[in-house]
Amino acid sequence: MTGGEAARAARDGFADRFGGEPEVAWAAPGRVNVIGEHTDYQLGLSLPIAIDRHVVVAVRRRADRRLRACSAAMPGTEEADLDGLRPGPRGHWFNYLAGVVAGLRPPAGLDLFVTADLPAGAGLSSSAALEVAVGSAVNDVCGLGRTPQEIALVGQAAENTFAGVSTGIMDQFASALGQAGRALLLDSRDRTVVPVPWRPEEAGVVLGVVDSRASRQVTGGGYQRRFEEAAAAAAALGVRSLREAAAADVERLQDPVLRLRARHIVRENGRVLDVVEAAGRGEWAVVGQALYASHRSLADDYEVSHPALDRIVAVAQATDGVVGARLTGAGFGGSAIVLMETLAEEDFLAALREAYAVEGWAPFQYARVRAAAGASRLAPCGRGGAPGGAAGEGARD
Ligand code: GLA
Repeated sequence: MTGGEAARAARDGFADRFGGEPEVAWAAPGRVNVIGEHTDYQLGLSLPIAIDRHVVVAVRRRADRRLRACSAAMPGTEEADLDGLRPGPRGHWFNYLAGVVAGLRPPAGLDLFVTADLPAGAGLSSSAALEVAVGSAVNDVCGLGRTPQEIALVGQAAENTFAGVSTGIMDQFASALGQAGRALLLDSRDRTVVPVPWRPEEAGVVLGVVDSRASRQVTGGGYQRRFEEAAAAAAALGVRSLREAAAADVERLQDPVLRLRARHIVRENGRVLDVVEAAGRGEWAVVGQALYASHRSLADDYEVSHPALDRIVAVAQATDGVVGARLTGAGFGGSAIVLMETLAEEDFLAALREAYAVEGWAPFQYARVRAAAGASRLAPCGRGGAPGGAAGEGARD
């Protein structure tokens, strides 16, 4: 969706469901994480980019204290009282939205309409994009004066309390603070973000994201178990978080499972810094090796991969001109990223199609991604909108 298309889709959908015009609309992007996986909830380092796929939220204040929300993807209207917001059935999309509204405590009731060109369930952080889009739109329409960091934290809190998933801060920070042409070096210990150059395209290298179509659910138990194992490893070492642990300490852990989990996290933090340095120097082959190492660690030590993700990485490794690949996001299915010379893209995709056909798996989805801007207000499309440009880029007013 271009900025203009996103604004129009939001306005038209809003008019169709609620009648009349929204006051403002915001687009918040999904993310892919270049490296630094399963580190954020142990106060570690990660390196996400925002991508040019978005969740768009249009909003209008109400005279009463009702919260009403519709999604383009669902029939019907969700309704609640602003003063009595509670988590609903587990996994329901309205939880994310209601959790953010509860966290922002707006002075007026709201009508919200949600639409997206970011697929849900692909490991591209559609829930964080929804939280950040809702938070940004409500903050704006009610003049609450929250910063993008604060909105990201409200989103994470909504995920933790209303959606019941103990995630870190990476996804919401990427969606709120992404920058075109830059990856975000996110330090979850002090919650700082340093934008670092991320323009592989200038060296004829593309970043592709393959949605394996192997379904994943952060709300499934695997993520939560890893979260708890990592906390148990930190406790066994007597440190506040594994960010404080050195590689040698980890090897002293008695429990073999906790040792593997901690080993992944400690080494992964180091790989993030290696990738930042190599990307800054344009050494894409070095970046690629770190991606492969990260995948091996996630598969063998952290045990969050999936046969389809392993296959994507194996096909990448066997294709000339591919420089690196790894699963991205929580794992257990979802997406993998592939860094490759532009000329290798067709060969890689052909080989992967063949591998999928042999397995009889449902076809994967593929898209090139570039580092895009974080959440942004869409120009009011009733007055011409933003011609061209991805939502979130060139669409600010
Ligand atoms: C999910 C969580 C993030 C992060 C990743 C794994 O996307 O929402 O906070 O923990 O998994 O790196």
